[in-house]
Amino acid sequence: MLRRFFITGTDTDVGKTVASTALVNAFVTQGQRVIGHKPISAGCEQSPEGLVNDDALQLIAQSNVTMPYHLVNPIALREPIAPHIAAAQCHQTITSAELIANYAQLDHIDADVLISEGAGGWCLPINDSELLPEVVSQLDIQVILVVAMRLGCLNHALLTQQAIEQSGCQIAGWIANAPHPQLCMDENLATLTARIDAPLLGIIPNVSNAKAAAQYLDISLLD
Ligand SMILES: Nc1ncnc2c1ncn2[C@@H]1O[C@H](COP(=O)(O)OP(=O)(O)OP(=O)(O)O)[C@@H](O)[C@H]1O
Ligand SMILES: [Mg+2]
Repeated sequence: MLRRFFITGTDTDVGKTVASTALVNAFVTQGQRVIGHKPISAGCEQSPEGLVNDDALQLIAQSNVTMPYHLVNPIALREPIAPHIAAAQCHQTITSAELIANYAQLDHIDADVLISEGAGGWCLPINDSELLPEVVSQLDIQVILVVAMRLGCLNHALLTQQAIEQSGCQIAGWIANAPHPQLCMDENLATLTARIDAPLLGIIPNVSNAKAAAQYLDISLLD
């Protein structure tokens, strides 16, 4: 059965793709068949296959399961803005039903692990009445929280943990992304370790690629 992980973060631009591609790499190294997935992307380039997003392409590059692009990234929006606004600008509406149908299709793929990168932070509107967490909570999927280690991260991380739990989802682990030196890093890590009710899977320093980032993760903590 496909093990599903949803990678969220304390905000946009916090290292979700760095962490997600590292997770794909780590599971592949362990011999698993892994799908990298970016259900909603905003910020795409035109290609012969249609609109494509860089996060999705990075996830595909680490994955060892060949998939058509539209299953990896079913909602690909051109403008790098909030997805429901990008969709409205091109007269589209994102629905929870199409997202749920996409996850259901992935269940039929011969694979062991799904690494599904969210968009923005946890509380992402997908249309005028629904939030992405309402979709995620309907799936049998474990949440991994990426925390950008910088001033303000305690508030962002603890609020995000509360919101994840209020959505009825389970945090399977969290990742500290620390590309830049931070004052009192050890103390901040200790504060979060004491308060987040899930294992710290690793601390990622400044890295140049997914393989390097994967060296800092302990995915056995997810078992
Ligand atoms: N540990 C790291 N080492 C080196 N560069 C990093 C690291 N973490 C993040 N970055 C860089 O910071 C930028 C943002 O990271 P990333 O794209 O992973 O964030 P994100 O949360 O996925 O953003 P989005 O919300 O757009 O999906 C990228 O250019 C990435 O390469
Ligand atoms: Mg990303």
